[in-house]
Amino acid sequence: MPEISLILVGFGNVGKAFVRLLQRKSDLLRDRYDLTYRITGIATGRHGMVMDPDGLDPQKILEVEDFSTLSRLPQPSSVIDLIQRCPGDFMFENSPVNHETGQPAIDHIRTALQRKMHVVTANKGPVVHGYHELIALAAENGRSFLFESAVMDGAPIFSVFREPLPLTELHGFTGILNSCTNFILGMMDEGKSFEEAVSLAQSIGITETDPSEDIDGWDAAVKAAALVTVLMGVPMKPQQVDRTGIRSITPIMLAEARAAGERWKLVCTAVREGDDVHARVVPQRVRPDSPLFAINGTNSYVQFHTDVLPGLGIIESDPGPETTAYGLLADMINALRAKGMLK
Ligand SMILES: NC(=O)c1ccc[n+]([C@@H]2O[C@H](COP(=O)([O-])OP(=O)(O)OC[C@H]3O[C@@H](n4cnc5c(N)ncnc54)[C@H](OP(=O)(O)O)[C@@H]3O)[C@@H](O)[C@H]2O)c1
Repeated sequence: MPEISLILVGFGNVGKAFVRLLQRKSDLLRDRYDLTYRITGIATGRHGMVMDPDGLDPQKILEVEDFSTLSRLPQPSSVIDLIQRCPGDFMFENSPVNHETGQPAIDHIRTALQRKMHVVTANKGPVVHGYHELIALAAENGRSFLFESAVMDGAPIFSVFREPLPLTELHGFTGILNSCTNFILGMMDEGKSFEEAVSLAQSIGITETDPSEDIDGWDAAVKAAALVTVLMGVPMKPQQVDRTGIRSITPIMLAEARAAGERWKLVCTAVREGDDVHARVVPQRVRPDSPLFAINGTNSYVQFHTDVLPGLGIIESDPGPETTAYGLLADMINALRAKGMLK
């Protein structure tokens, strides 16, 4: 029975949800794929690090506050040191997104790939800032670099374009890619103040570590840039997306839209223009006949415009750390499948 060892870099909402999901699916992993796992290392920003080649107790790691208290070995000097020394078949990178440079996640991923680990991440930063380098490095080392959860959590977005849609030409897309701002606009429409709506979003774990990443449209811009870079083949940085957040949307504007039977949404679009792509994130009033009108609460949506399927839409309902964790698990299985390691 193959046993794989896993290193978790970043152990917040998503990292913890992933360990809970692994626990829940461990019988299925064993019965379906003859696969077991152990967690050999954890690195965080302010809650310490731990390394144990024999495997950490999954229950204990979900309860402890400071990971260095679990250490039987000398503490790694840095996250990179842990990735360099800890035995691992997979490194899961789930540290906070850095929309400006993608760091330090790019360095974490580069180090893991050089050590011949598969890398799976929900972090969009390294996808937009390091995609071409990291994919090439993964191929050079015979490993996978997968990031299904980086856009629309566990919903299959990138993988749909791998096998189910061969030879498709993607002309563009329209969508609501940031569930947090969609939730905030909905709460404000129901009479909550902007501040109350942001606190509510934080309390259910759907904001980025820094909520201004969502509110100012950065999260949506990074996701749009990731889709353009990976699926449309045109490298795009979030800074190149024409971006406006939701801070300027007032209760009066929401009431005016409501009176006209419309709703405000933070809409992402990308359109191919010759060899280039123009991408935008901007609040818009949408009419009831738009598919975006019915995307409420924390739901998110993307409609792809392709040469063969003119409007292929994917909706994700109630996303959160648990659905994100599923994307990580699916990537893990797909990386093992690609290596012919699963029965
Ligand atoms: N939440 C979601 O549903 C969701 C959905 C899709 C994608 N994502 C992405 O998934 C990633 C993680 O999200 P999250 O909600 O789990 O965030 P989170 O709860 O804020 O957790 C972030 C984790 O990263 C650690 N960390 C901070 N700086 C680090 C560094 N330099 N090196 C290593 N670890 C570091 C933090 O440690 P300390 O707490 O000790 O600082 C914490 O353990 C983000 O990139 C996010 O964009 C999240």
